[in-house]
Amino acid sequence: MIIAIDGPAGAGKSTVAKLLAKKLKFLYIDTGAMYRALTLKVLAEKINIKETDKIIKLASQSNINLINDPDGTLRVLLDGRDVSSAIRQPVITQFVSDIAKIGDVRKVMVGLQRKLGGQGDAVLDGRDIGTVVFPDAHKKFYVDADFKERVNRRYKEALGLGQNLTFEEVAEDLSNRDNIDSNRKVAPLKQADDAIYVDTTNLSIEEVVDKLLKEI
Ligand code: DC
Repeated sequence: MIIAIDGPAGAGKSTVAKLLAKKLKFLYIDTGAMYRALTLKVLAEKINIKETDKIIKLASQSNINLINDPDGTLRVLLDGRDVSSAIRQPVITQFVSDIAKIGDVRKVMVGLQRKLGGQGDAVLDGRDIGTVVFPDAHKKFYVDADFKERVNRRYKEALGLGQNLTFEEVAEDLSNRDNIDSNRKVAPLKQADDAIYVDTTNLSIEEVVDKLLKEI
């Protein structure tokens, strides 16, 4: 069974998807982490984000893998190296949407996501899971929240990670990513026709997970 969870940044997708996968004993596939891992490599190799040919080549030559540890932790491996923390740096967040909008990069990532998800029962979260990656997913959710609340969540998260960002900086990044992710030519963020819309603005994580479980 495939469960697709899409929505904008800060809506609570990852937290909810991870918990849901744990409760259902499904694989959890954080597709944003895959685009982040590639972004890390692009920056490490000092490739300019405008050099799309080089980025596409790098995507096809990279080994990106997600490991679900038995305790529920997700490890992100880039060419065998654990990059789970490195991909959460603000500089990655700043550039990831520009890399994720490259059509041929998406082809590589979608292939990988289908391969990982095809192994069995899985919960995938991202922007295009229900529309492109798994259009026949058994259940699709579009998880959303008010912009201010999404900024608030990401700001708290950044503080928790010891990142020195202001509320305004987080708001600007989120608004910029919303804009790129929703308006790109290939697989833009949008609700699939058959997805269930879930507004998480005034709900706790547990309440959202319960809601999704009932639907499933
Ligand atoms: O979920 P996240 O914030 O870690 O995702 C990082 C970026 O990756 C996001 O701004 C857009 C892109 N992304 C995407 O284009 N398609 C996906 N399925 C997942 C993420």
